[in-house]
Amino acid sequence: MTDKNRVVIFDTTLRDGEQSPGATMSHAEKLEIAGLLDEMGVDIIEAGFPIASEGDFEAVKAISEQTKNAVICGLARANFKDIDRCWEAVKHAAKPRIHTFIGTSELHRAIPNLTMDEMAEKIHETVSHARNLCDNVQWSPMDATRTEWDYLCRVVEIAIKAGATTINIPDTVGYTAPNESADLIRRLIANVPGADEVVFATHCHNDLGMATANSLAAVEGGARQIECTINGLGERAGNTALEEVVMAMKVRHDIIPFTTGIDSTKLMNISRRVAAVSGFAVQFNKAIVGKNAFAHESGIHQDGMLKNAETFEIMRPEDVGLSETNLVMGKHSGRAALRSKLSELGFELGDNQLKDVFVRFKALADQKKEIYDEDLIALMQVGSDVEDRIKLAALQVSCGMDLEKSAEMTLVIDGESQTTRQTGDGPVDAAFNAVKTLFAHSARLQLYQVSAVTEGTDAQATVSVRLEEDGKIATGQSADVDTVVASVRAYIDALNRLLVRREKSGGDLAEVSYKDAG
Ligand code: KIV
Ligand code: ZN
Repeated sequence: MTDKNRVVIFDTTLRDGEQSPGATMSHAEKLEIAGLLDEMGVDIIEAGFPIASEGDFEAVKAISEQTKNAVICGLARANFKDIDRCWEAVKHAAKPRIHTFIGTSELHRAIPNLTMDEMAEKIHETVSHARNLCDNVQWSPMDATRTEWDYLCRVVEIAIKAGATTINIPDTVGYTAPNESADLIRRLIANVPGADEVVFATHCHNDLGMATANSLAAVEGGARQIECTINGLGERAGNTALEEVVMAMKVRHDIIPFTTGIDSTKLMNISRRVAAVSGFAVQFNKAIVGKNAFAHESGIHQDGMLKNAETFEIMRPEDVGLSETNLVMGKHSGRAALRSKLSELGFELGDNQLKDVFVRFKALADQKKEIYDEDLIALMQVGSDVEDRIKLAALQVSCGMDLEKSAEMTLVIDGESQTTRQTGDGPVDAAFNAVKTLFAHSARLQLYQVSAVTEGTDAQATVSVRLEEDGKIATGQSADVDTVVASVRAYIDALNRLLVRREKSGGDLAEVSYKDAG
């Protein structure tokens, strides 16, 4: 018997999330995130857009092969070539799904320059083609919330007749509002012939900050699949945040009486991993997974919390996988203790990986007396899975009031050691100028972000650096108790990643346009 209140969680972190400029993940990172999503109980993982690049295809294929429980979905535009390529990648999954889409609003129809009738015909052909390959087909009328009502009903009916098993209603530009979102799904289910034989999905963007509310309203209206991403990662203001809709249904089950298969205690760990690999830090006051979401600093709050945690807490930190920050280890902790602590934090390491992390842990313990969970998490989030052509060998900076800011640096580039001394507006600027002098490149710094891992002036700084060169984007990360060292390492990490991307030929998402639907 199917549970009519069970909501399917469709995670698109690896597709819509990764599409966000700068959020590009490596092959290994995508596999790791897919593994965590599967373990957490996500029902469907949209693993990528196989036609977009060789790398995307390989990632979707590998995720299809490794995934144990979730349905694996790939995205395809409304043409046979895209759909065939998508099927080639997802057919390796135990439970494959093809997701094909076309923009149906007047503005989107104008892009491939199709009349309403021509588009309707194309939808019929492409959904039928997908259904001949795979018995699980999702179809999306992109920009559904701005599509003329009669035409939306017409194309949804065509897609159902052609064999779509899920109809997704995207609010592509984040334009709708909760009452409209609920009403749209309710009216589609009531008016489109065959609607009761398919699952309706909601896919919201957060341009007006209403994605979570709109998704939950759509469920109220009859949708039974929510499309979302970890941390709300996604283009512009992002997509619906998975952790928000899941916890809203859990905490307010009394008025939002729907269930999911998500193990919410895994939310914090996956949020941190997605933040680390995408280079998109989670804002401190982000609902559910933000650093301050469970922090109670004001005197009144603390007093209330000590008397009864429910005074200011509507959910327990443990429910989302947040354990009490504790002093974990120090200089004398051994390898076995490190392995066991990391495993508690969600990191399972092989022997070689542990060896590498242990060396870095010891180096950190020499610099910092008290090592907290957050320090270990930061330690795990740095370290690249790409071959480093450029390595930092030495760095000395000079700075202070009314002093010239300079950096003397030695880099090992392709095995050859080179040194320079450069000046700048500050120590970081001087150090970045030194990198640019030793390894000339035209990449533009798009983002430089620093945050403290823990409290105290001996805290490690985590640094994210995003570089862009000819439309290719790479994000580097590092953490160190020395902010300038962390900054230079993050810059070099981004540069190494960019070099790998430069070498790899083949199209990127940036080069594959959604408008090329025909
Ligand atoms: O936002 C959107 O319309 C999409 C589609 C491809 C489903 O992401
Ligand atoms: Zn989207």
